[in-house]
Amino acid sequence: MTAHKQIIVFPTVEKLAEYFYQLLRSKIPDISKNMFFNVALSGGSTPKMIFKYLSAHSEGEIDWKKIKLFWSDERCVAPDDEESNFRMTSMNLIENIDIPVENIFRIYGENDPENEAIRYSSVLQENVGLSNGLPRFDMLLLGLGEDGHTASIFPGNHSLFQSSNYCQAVKHPESGQSRITLTGPVINNAELVVFMVIGAGKAEIVAKLLNNDHKSELPASFVRPANGNSLWLLDDEAAKLLDTSLIKKV
Ligand code: 6PG
Repeated sequence: MTAHKQIIVFPTVEKLAEYFYQLLRSKIPDISKNMFFNVALSGGSTPKMIFKYLSAHSEGEIDWKKIKLFWSDERCVAPDDEESNFRMTSMNLIENIDIPVENIFRIYGENDPENEAIRYSSVLQENVGLSNGLPRFDMLLLGLGEDGHTASIFPGNHSLFQSSNYCQAVKHPESGQSRITLTGPVINNAELVVFMVIGAGKAEIVAKLLNNDHKSELPASFVRPANGNSLWLLDDEAAKLLDTSLIKKV
């Protein structure tokens, strides 16, 4: 199956969130009994608005008992630290939906990073179906940094796309903060990768990545799901420098 990339641009974040909600909602009925829809969530600030929308609209519409939540990356901080991606997700989504606690697989940011990378790799091995010998997420959310990083794969560290590990401990190049990130092979093994990028601040990096067919050396340009699909959900602001022939307007 050839990989497929689609770029959809929305006039507002609310419309983007609504599209994502309908996309997620459409996936759940096909999940057979005793199976789950495995989602890896991205961190940072962009998902907040999407999660708030899901919190406000998914009651009775999405059977969260059929969904397992994992993370694409996590900051190595306590789960109640304001930097924690888990805390952000809890406040904006988990506390507002009827999802069983056993369906939530957070990365233990409070643990020793190297040990946690090993532990979380085992969690993925045991809880996410394998395909091509790697965990295969049904849906994997990613954000995009202004430097072209995604998950916690930063510029100069794209060797993580050749890693033999499922996840690794890394350091933020500026702050030195330890992070746990999924590696490139796991990201590219996903059935569907969904980038969500909003705001004028991301317009330049979005154009740099998507206007040029040749592969830049930026980490996000290495995201090419081998047997899956990638979907870029952008608001008008983030898409304003994009080649209009590339996009589907909503
Ligand atoms: C993180 C994310 C990171 C994020 C981008 C975009 O833990 O910070 O995984 O990759 O998605 O940096 O962040 P914003 O959504 O805050 O712009």
